[in-house]
Amino acid sequence: MGNRRTDRPRDTIIRAAGLYPDRRTPHNFPMAILKIARMGHPILRRPAEAVADPTEPAVRQLVADMVETMQDARGTGLAAPQVHVPARVVVYFVSENRLQEGEEPVPLTALVNPVLTPIGPKRDYDWEGCLSVPGLTGLVPRHERVRLRAITPDGDVIDKTVAGFHARVLQHEIDHLDGFLYPQRMDDLSLLLFQEEMRNGIPERARLLLEKTDEQNVA
Ligand code: NI
Repeated sequence: MGNRRTDRPRDTIIRAAGLYPDRRTPHNFPMAILKIARMGHPILRRPAEAVADPTEPAVRQLVADMVETMQDARGTGLAAPQVHVPARVVVYFVSENRLQEGEEPVPLTALVNPVLTPIGPKRDYDWEGCLSVPGLTGLVPRHERVRLRAITPDGDVIDKTVAGFHARVLQHEIDHLDGFLYPQRMDDLSLLLFQEEMRNGIPERARLLLEKTDEQNVA
């Protein structure tokens, strides 16, 4: 458990509360920034357990803490095992600057017991990073289209088809629930780089794979 933070920015509280528009957030709604496990910690290798009751208050509290932790670390997604909780819970959003052609931004979303099923054989390459693998980035193949089924902490059922960067974020986050980190999904570890070194240019092979992905998406 991380330190309680008293100087959190007001917009963090509003955005976390925005997950539950039907419920008024108490003024003293306590949230915490949690410690993030890094690659090598056993919690990241262990499959997480299904949540028996997605609507229980403990899940809501976990989600609020995960949202605050993710925003503090400037991530776009976070899975419960990354904060040392072996439960099948993820939070994420997709901001406009990560969108591919024709995609919609995704607001802050919490999923409990999510299940992904790939649709079709098509795979795309793109860069990924991970709060549990700080400083690095890698070119990862992912299914271009997936079916998502999940429950929200409000008890709503989600069952929809998702594509592009949204599908990529989901595959990355739900992999955390099964004990996988993105380097384990890579097919060429020469494309695992320190982000800082990208200023010196990216490997030619990465450029070719990205161009191929773009061409497929236009076709
Ligand atoms: Ni990650």
